[in-house]
Amino acid sequence: MTISVFGASGHTGQFVVAELRRRAVPSILSGRDPDRLARLYPDDDRRPASVDDPASLDAALAGADAVVNCAGPFADTHAPVLDAALRNGIPYLDVTAELEVVAEILARYDGPARAAGVTVVPAMAFFGAVGDLLATAATAGWPAADRIDLAYALSDWRPTDGTRATGRVSAGRRDGRRLRYADGRLGFGTGAAPTGEWAFPGPVGTLPVVGEFATADSVTIPHHLSTKDIGSWMHTRAAEDLRSPDPTPPTAVDSEGRSAQTFLVEVVARRGDEERRAAVSGRDIYAVTAPLVVEAALRVVKDPVPGAHTAGALFDPGDFLGATLTGSG
Ligand SMILES: NC(=O)c1ccc[n+]([C@@H]2O[C@H](COP(=O)([O-])OP(=O)(O)OC[C@H]3O[C@@H](n4cnc5c(N)ncnc54)[C@H](OP(=O)(O)O)[C@@H]3O)[C@@H](O)[C@H]2O)c1
Repeated sequence: MTISVFGASGHTGQFVVAELRRRAVPSILSGRDPDRLARLYPDDDRRPASVDDPASLDAALAGADAVVNCAGPFADTHAPVLDAALRNGIPYLDVTAELEVVAEILARYDGPARAAGVTVVPAMAFFGAVGDLLATAATAGWPAADRIDLAYALSDWRPTDGTRATGRVSAGRRDGRRLRYADGRLGFGTGAAPTGEWAFPGPVGTLPVVGEFATADSVTIPHHLSTKDIGSWMHTRAAEDLRSPDPTPPTAVDSEGRSAQTFLVEVVARRGDEERRAAVSGRDIYAVTAPLVVEAALRVVKDPVPGAHTAGALFDPGDFLGATLTGSG
């Protein structure tokens, strides 16, 4: 089995390549900058490609069993790479955090993917997959939830250049407004974002949080679970870090290149008087994206599910999170 990685020289792309190596999965390493690819991967199968050149993307996918797109902002890269995956008849997975891109892929590509017999999984990453899998676990057996809240205890957040660029693209598209999922649909929040405190499970404890911090999970969850409202709460410090002008990227503190950042994600689902909670914790939201998307790629190559799907719709949450987050901190 061979996996092609587009955006292999980015921060997240490098974690994905390392995870493929750790699992002894052959890879094709692609991206737009041939020099950077050559510097990082001198002895590997490198196939520089451009989103403006479909033939170069076809060459980057030739012989691969799936493609993992790590090149963001995905507003620019998802359509050309996805079209190439459909032409080549192989699964497409990406790590986008862009809500509009996830919504577009799920809406526009489901039919073509089914027709081509291709599995498509957007946002198979920390944002987009973890909350979706936890919400799937928390609502198991319910026909619908009244409300699902997600709370993120990121110890801090040093965004990469790619995250900053993506934030600029998303902010431009939203004209400065916040997205939120309310009354059964994605819309815009107005006025100041709500604030409060969230009592996370120990040892994190109670932290100040800011609300209407919609993540890709606000698109992936309601795509397959029925709920009227989704609350999305972020540790205030991490939300402030994201807006900070300090350009310092995440700093590696261990041999795997992970930063010291820790995370705890808690999901609370409510239906009538019932309340169910599910949570996971680990280290480094960029690093942990690699085992998530690689495990998903290997699974859909083995067991294809043609169409465009989210993590929670495809995988058993306990089994999948147990296989991917074990050892993440
Ligand atoms: N959902 C999640 O939880 C999650 C987790 C991790 C990352 N992400 C997303 O993944 C993306 C990358 O993040 P990162 O941390 O890896 O950032 P990064 O280190 O800045 O890497 C970005 C990569 O994308 C490539 N790229 C950007 N625009 C491109 C284009 N038009 N054509 C071809 N390649 C392009 C860059 O190529 P060059 O090297 O040539 O500039 C680079 O390799 C961001 O959108 C981020 O939001 C999401």
